[in-house]
Amino acid sequence: MTLASEKRVYNLLSREALLNPYPLYEKLRTEAPVYYFEEGGFWFLSRYQDVEAAVCDLRLSSDKRALYASKLLNLDKDAIKNIMKLLGGMMVDKDPPEHTRMRKVSLSGFTTRALEGWREIIHETTNSLLDKVQARGCMDVVQDLSLPLPSLMIAKIMGVPEHQRAEFQQWAIDIATFWGAPNGEEVVELALRADKSAVLFTEYINHMIEERKRNKTDDMISLLVTAYEENGFNLDELPSLCILILCAGLVTTADLIPNGINALLTNPEQLDKLKSSPQLVGYAVEEMMRFDPPVPIIFRIAKEDVTISGKTIPQGHIVAIGLGAANRDPQKFDSPDVFDITRTNNEHLGFSKGIHFCLGAVLARMELTICFETLLRRMPNISFDANNQPISKRQTIAFKGFKSFPVKF
Ligand code: HEM
Repeated sequence: MTLASEKRVYNLLSREALLNPYPLYEKLRTEAPVYYFEEGGFWFLSRYQDVEAAVCDLRLSSDKRALYASKLLNLDKDAIKNIMKLLGGMMVDKDPPEHTRMRKVSLSGFTTRALEGWREIIHETTNSLLDKVQARGCMDVVQDLSLPLPSLMIAKIMGVPEHQRAEFQQWAIDIATFWGAPNGEEVVELALRADKSAVLFTEYINHMIEERKRNKTDDMISLLVTAYEENGFNLDELPSLCILILCAGLVTTADLIPNGINALLTNPEQLDKLKSSPQLVGYAVEEMMRFDPPVPIIFRIAKEDVTISGKTIPQGHIVAIGLGAANRDPQKFDSPDVFDITRTNNEHLGFSKGIHFCLGAVLARMELTICFETLLRRMPNISFDANNQPISKRQTIAFKGFKSFPVKF
């Protein structure tokens, strides 16, 4: 590589790249696959092979406390102690052996039997949301479907009674919004709001735990309480696990649904194919996850000097692992920029891989399959709304989705 190309700046944070990062990913894969982006203060990996190896490399730590701290430099730490405690206990930010222990016990909340029981909850929740808009002939996919669906679904799965679900959903949204927040001015306001919700959320989960200790049902909180008790683990960890499940299930699905609808509407021949062959819906969801994933980047911190494809990332440096860039790598996928719902062998990295592979992947796949199947059956004439353009989110490179996505049907 020449000195000139070495010095070239690939601005991953430009407005253009935040809206559509794929052309920049392509340049990076060919010209600078292991790239130090000075302005952002992180390394960026864009090739499938490097990304796949990095998510499985335990020299890259998931303990991102340093990242949170840099985001909140100007804040009185005492004012946000509740949210920091809640987020600080999340296993997604832990390394082995602590992660191994937490992951094993969390799996008890996602048994095959439990998942099958939740299928009906997903059907009922999707239908009830679509009932509200069906007669109107138009909706905002984000406000009317993709944001309420996962939070309501998880609230039901956790056994939150109907009269408390609105409040529960609001706490989850406040906390998830701060969790996914970029650096910048608004982060302070989001942190303070999230701190208040963290107090209420923690109190509420602790109250549920006490109830379930006395009276077990088949909801997720009961399954987790039983597993924690059987293993002799401290139940104080449960609020953090619950908020992780809520946040991880909410921010992702809320973005995947509009991203997927966008891919279908901008590729009408694929939409027609799916309408005429609804049995392809499972493949279509996998292709949406590959083509425009809601989590295009995950972060790690190098625990020691790590050499990747000939470049040495120094100890302590931040590494942004480009799941979205890997998903468009022509070395791995034929015609990667083509959205093709019949694609097979689709080994995308949208749910990551390795020890932190998405714990909710089976649930997410079930939820997304039911959602798209129901949507296209009930609203087969779905189209863009010519009078209202979709508005993309563009505050952060870690999550990619829409703020609003108006459609007609
Ligand atoms: C389209 C939907 C989803 C996508 C794209 C997605 C993506 C991901 C990714 C990329 C990771 C790895 C994060 C990292 O290593 O830093 C992850 C982890 C995780 N996801 Fe998902 N996810 C989705 C849905 C869900 C759902 C529905 C749930 C639960 C209800 C969930 C729960 C989790 C949990 C608990 C982890 C942490 C696992 C661990 O640290 O061992 N996710 N997800």
